[in-house]
Amino acid sequence: HARIVRIDTSRAEALPGVKAVLTHKDLPDMPWPFQGPNAKLLDTTLRYVGDEVAVVAAVDEPTAEDALRLIEVEYEELPFVLDPEKALEADAPKVWPEGNVLRGKPNVYERGNIEQGLAEADVVVEQTFRSQHQVHACAETHASVAQWRGNKLTVWDSTQGAHTVREQLAQLLRLPIATVRVITQHMGGGFGSKLWLNKYTVLAALLAKRTGRPVKIILDRKEDALAMGNRPANIMQLKGGCKRDGTLTALYMKSFGTIGVYPTGADCGTPLREIYRCPNVKTEEYDIHINADQARPHRAPGHVQGTWALEQLIDMLAEKVGLDPLEFRRKNYSEIDPRRNQPYSSKGLERAYSEGAAKFGWETRAERKRQLSTATKKRGYGMATQIWGGGGGPPGYCIVRINSDGTADVLCGAQDIGTATRTTFLQIAAEELGMKPEQVSIAMGDTEACPYGPASGGSRTTPSMGPAVRMAAADAKRQLLDLASRVMKIPAERLAAKDGKIFDTQEPSVSKTIAEVARQMRTAWISPHAQIIGKGFRGPNPDGVSLNTWGAQFAEVEVDVETGEVRVLRIVAAHESGRIINPLTATNQVEGGVVQAIGFALHERRVLDPTTGQMLNANLRDYKLPTALDVPEIEPVFVALPDPVANSVGAKGLGEPPMIPTAGAIANAVYDAIGVRLTETPMTPEKILKVLEEKANA
Ligand code: MOS
Repeated sequence: HARIVRIDTSRAEALPGVKAVLTHKDLPDMPWPFQGPNAKLLDTTLRYVGDEVAVVAAVDEPTAEDALRLIEVEYEELPFVLDPEKALEADAPKVWPEGNVLRGKPNVYERGNIEQGLAEADVVVEQTFRSQHQVHACAETHASVAQWRGNKLTVWDSTQGAHTVREQLAQLLRLPIATVRVITQHMGGGFGSKLWLNKYTVLAALLAKRTGRPVKIILDRKEDALAMGNRPANIMQLKGGCKRDGTLTALYMKSFGTIGVYPTGADCGTPLREIYRCPNVKTEEYDIHINADQARPHRAPGHVQGTWALEQLIDMLAEKVGLDPLEFRRKNYSEIDPRRNQPYSSKGLERAYSEGAAKFGWETRAERKRQLSTATKKRGYGMATQIWGGGGGPPGYCIVRINSDGTADVLCGAQDIGTATRTTFLQIAAEELGMKPEQVSIAMGDTEACPYGPASGGSRTTPSMGPAVRMAAADAKRQLLDLASRVMKIPAERLAAKDGKIFDTQEPSVSKTIAEVARQMRTAWISPHAQIIGKGFRGPNPDGVSLNTWGAQFAEVEVDVETGEVRVLRIVAAHESGRIINPLTATNQVEGGVVQAIGFALHERRVLDPTTGQMLNANLRDYKLPTALDVPEIEPVFVALPDPVANSVGAKGLGEPPMIPTAGAIANAVYDAIGVRLTETPMTPEKILKVLEEKANA
């Protein structure tokens, strides 16, 4: 936390090979609305160790690094705070003059009456849980390449939202949207850290303008870990009450989420508010500023830590009333959305429970535990529930072109962020068109070629854009069948297309290939077309129903009571996300989500030096991502329940759901193994040994 008193770039500028240097002096009026109403792109006040000071463009990377070291800066140091609990004390250093609590007050939700609900309970449990900061650690760090041709700016960007970046860049640089092109063909992960425009992208564009050359900025691993966001840490104080038969009467949480320097959110109460049928629910959530990097959405924001805490509280209640954890959850199953008091478009959670439990062997776990545990290696079995918004929504657009040789091009808004969205959408288009997949090509992630599509976040790409793709394909097919009707002299209503052929539904042996029909486009007296253009858009979601995805995961662990090591042996992941369009890509989402959640549960955490605020493990050696050896057998169970109410492809989204329940299931399994609960993530060997020792001494 410091103010820049003096900055001298003259030595850097004099270095051969340096093409431009920018500091706050060069850009006094460039705002940065993403960090608050008065924030600047390059500011004179630096609020944490990752705030940008200067940027250099040079002919190569070593020259740029050398030039950065030649910039002289004099700082006036300011007081800082890194601990969220200290940040709440009256005499704590202030991150912002208004104080360290965002908006000065908590977000409060209440239904029923929490005091009454707790009073009515036969059993009440109370527990504080603490989750850590998790950084996204994308395989590909954040990166942009910017190039100007005349007044036209092209940016190749590693982003989850090509159109988002385009519109935000145009707005910030005061350019017509039409003059900005953003291209995202392939990228190595975002997980919520690449949902919007970043400073380095703007700086690349400004440097490219100034130097008349293309400029590439690729963040190194340290910069990426330090300044590109994180899952906020939460201190969650939970209280729950139920009747002797297990009926929930009250759920309460007070949460303190550490959002870092700039305004954002650390809400983690949705699972507690929405999973179970419970009449009295209250959450109070504080967002706390500290002098560290701003939190960003991280795959299932809030739900990962919120579910980890809630699902342990649920198990604690179940144990107190002597119910099987799964039975307790079933007892409090909500047939309608308990928060909005309205039905769901579909809810396959009961099937996720029963199909997951069957695959896992939940009923025989006690016997397996007896057989497989040894004196030093204890087996444990646990489960947890998942809820996520899902469902997607407008706006999003697609164009399908049928060419005169019977092939088709799909031009789709949105981008493929490594989830194989291209494959999924190509399947949807080919099926609707009645073509073989190899007759269809798809373009995404280019704002010049493709219409508008949303950023890929919130598990919304398939449910948002899938219906637009299907609609565009249906529109093109209708025109193709009109053409076929004239060629084949059969009424269009009688015609259908499948596997590359158009046939008479009343006499299926009468058919022509789509290629034969499409060739007639070139015959002017039959067809007005040289290419058929179909259009599709994403319409609104249905009124009066809640769109949610559901799941249940079951974990088997082995805890070594001598070393404290937890090994996850098996995860059965049962998910209901509507129609599964492609089982292979869906399986990839489940595997990736579970692995990332194992990192959260057992290994990963951001370590800040309390004396300097520096991140001490901003590299992949000391920041412990799970490796192949930490990955258990992961068995997906897809509850096949196409949701025709949600949208025209029946899919609800699966990007985030698999990451949500894993840590809770592991935590409950660890408790089952050792009989003592860990209330802090990551659940490291040190912490396991500590709670075992406390238990032994108790
Ligand atoms: Mo996601 S955390 O909405 O990319």
